[in-house]
Amino acid sequence: MILRTVGLGRQVAMGEQPLVILDDINLAINAGESLAIVGPSGSGKSTLLGLLAGLDVPSCGEVWLDGQSLFSLDEEGRAALRARAVGFVFQNFQLLPGLTALENVALPLELAGRGDALDRAAHWLGLVGLTARRRHYPAQLSGGEQQRVALARAFAGDPRVLFADEPTGNLDARTGAAVIDLLFDLNARAGTTLVLVTHDAVLAARCGRQVELADGRMCGVRKAGGDATQGNAGRQSVSIRPEVMEPGAATSQEPAGA
Ligand SMILES: Nc1ncnc2c1ncn2[C@@H]1O[C@H](COP(=O)(O)OP(=O)(O)OP(=O)(O)O)[C@@H](O)[C@H]1O
Ligand SMILES: [Mg+2]
Repeated sequence: MILRTVGLGRQVAMGEQPLVILDDINLAINAGESLAIVGPSGSGKSTLLGLLAGLDVPSCGEVWLDGQSLFSLDEEGRAALRARAVGFVFQNFQLLPGLTALENVALPLELAGRGDALDRAAHWLGLVGLTARRRHYPAQLSGGEQQRVALARAFAGDPRVLFADEPTGNLDARTGAAVIDLLFDLNARAGTTLVLVTHDAVLAARCGRQVELADGRMCGVRKAGGDATQGNAGRQSVSIRPEVMEPGAATSQEPAGA
């Protein structure tokens, strides 16, 4: 199991009553899985992604990433674990404007002390079809090209888990479809676990599992193709309390796929 949460919650102080953003999130993700986090705007998806990646700290609960309890580490320890195990694609890409595409991809590799940073960055830019654009600065790239640079940057460090927040959110349908293909192709090549936040039904449907959030709570889980497997017997391992399951969502009662 690559990622597990127990009782994960996040609240912020707002006036007299705390505002509950996430409540009692329990999920388990096996290595190599692809998981979509879906739900309405404001349901807590980005907050959850940030907690899973150790970019933010919860009010309660714990995340184990690659066997390590995230919040027993200090920020420096989490940063080291992120550098070793995590790739993150931000919705707004967060490329550094003063660096070229190549330098943006190479920088985290250089910070991690890899001697082959530039070669490796060039290799991954090639895989995303941007060799001809490697010396361009972000402002000289289209949105889809910037998204592909961000994907190359996230994959180049050989992450165990790739988190992507609405990786097709700002793309037209055609570029979005190309990015989705790219994501799953790179996922297959690198064997990386995918955890994606998306409003895009096509992207969500490509994932092995969809977890739905509403008002900060897990309210449903759905398996691709309806081939749900039993609890520990297969790759499905979401723990979700039966009383909050939505009718029709895949449950542990659903028969195993033939
Ligand atoms: N630091 C904060 N202080 C107060 N409220 C916050 C804070 N961070 C998030 N929220 C609130 O928590 C809720 C969940 O936010 P989040 O960004 O996780 O939603 P989301 O599901 O990603 O939405 P979207 O689909 O619009 O991106 C929102 O109502 C947001 O306003
Ligand atoms: Mg969001």
